[in-house]
Amino acid sequence: MSTEQTNITVDSAYEAVAPDDFPAMMEVERYGNRSTAFDKIISATHDHFWDPQDPKFVDFSQPFDMENEYLVDPLGLAELQTAINDKIDEKQRIKLVNLDVQWSLSSILHGEQGALALSASLCHILKDPGAQEYAANQTREEARHVAGFSNYIKARWGKPVAVGPALGDLLTELVLSPLVWKKIVGMQMLVEGLAMGAFATFYKQSNDPVMTKLMQLTMTDEAFHHKFGKIWADRTIPKLSEHERNQIEDWAWEVFQVLLYNLGSPEQKKHIYAAVGLDWEWVQSAFMEAMTDSAVREDMMEATNIFRVLIKTLLKAGVITDRTSANYAAFIDMKELHQEGDRMVGDDIAEEGIKYLRELNGNTNKYMSLDTMTAAE
Ligand SMILES: [Fe+2]
Ligand SMILES: [Fe+2]
Repeated sequence: MSTEQTNITVDSAYEAVAPDDFPAMMEVERYGNRSTAFDKIISATHDHFWDPQDPKFVDFSQPFDMENEYLVDPLGLAELQTAINDKIDEKQRIKLVNLDVQWSLSSILHGEQGALALSASLCHILKDPGAQEYAANQTREEARHVAGFSNYIKARWGKPVAVGPALGDLLTELVLSPLVWKKIVGMQMLVEGLAMGAFATFYKQSNDPVMTKLMQLTMTDEAFHHKFGKIWADRTIPKLSEHERNQIEDWAWEVFQVLLYNLGSPEQKKHIYAAVGLDWEWVQSAFMEAMTDSAVREDMMEATNIFRVLIKTLLKAGVITDRTSANYAAFIDMKELHQEGDRMVGDDIAEEGIKYLRELNGNTNKYMSLDTMTAAE
């Protein structure tokens, strides 16, 4: 980093102290200084309660024929749109697709663990009691995602695979950073935005009802985490100095590239290719070759459209401006995004899930739609 990064506080709801300054939390005046900005998302928590250990919500004992059936639609796997497809037989294709799902869900599990530790760390630095209650609540929800994804991975593969170095380093940086803006832009917008895109894709393409249910239940929580990031952005971005905004914008672009690299690089998925008898360097050359064909490239962009939610989140929050817009245009139609409303691709899936959970939990209180959660007081 060329310039030193510091906390940027323009709204008192995000005032922060050093992670080891617990005495500041016992200041008598602090307890009564509570922002109402997060009250709606805190109150809504019971509307989307679920328990990953209770088969009433999702039953991880439901079997799936891992050897003979695709966990997800194979058309979604970029590898199978290259010369790799002709090199392997149907059995190996199924193996490749299902191992790729294990890789993705393991990355998500590590991301959930990162989100858990990050939300907990927000409780140590945010001074506002309302912001703290929100963060504590998110911590509890991330813990159930860790439990849910661990249960699913255990049922299908036994255990997860190790985190890729790029994602592992990024999550560590976010968790350990004392900077609120870095935590919120990095986790709530970038990592959670990417996760929402991935959940929506798995929800639509999964052939395993257990996975579909897990995605939807997780999304009922994540939609609110996304709102927390939006509230921060609405109250912060428009009031930043140019220097501060540029700093955040440039850092977001750096993180975006890290995430793109982590998911896209054949080197990080060596073990998957080895399992079907392919050398990762050969796989990489097959990708390069396919990328020169524009039709294939478009298909592949379609397949990796999970970045769309992330880019849209940054754009709608004002983190992406004309300074870096062209960088993202290589991956997505930015004009189209500009014209879209605030509603996210996962919101409909989440909202349907919340209605299902309300019924299951016997909730009779008035339903508040997701769109009302960020409405100004
Ligand atoms: Fe989560
Ligand atoms: Fe989350």
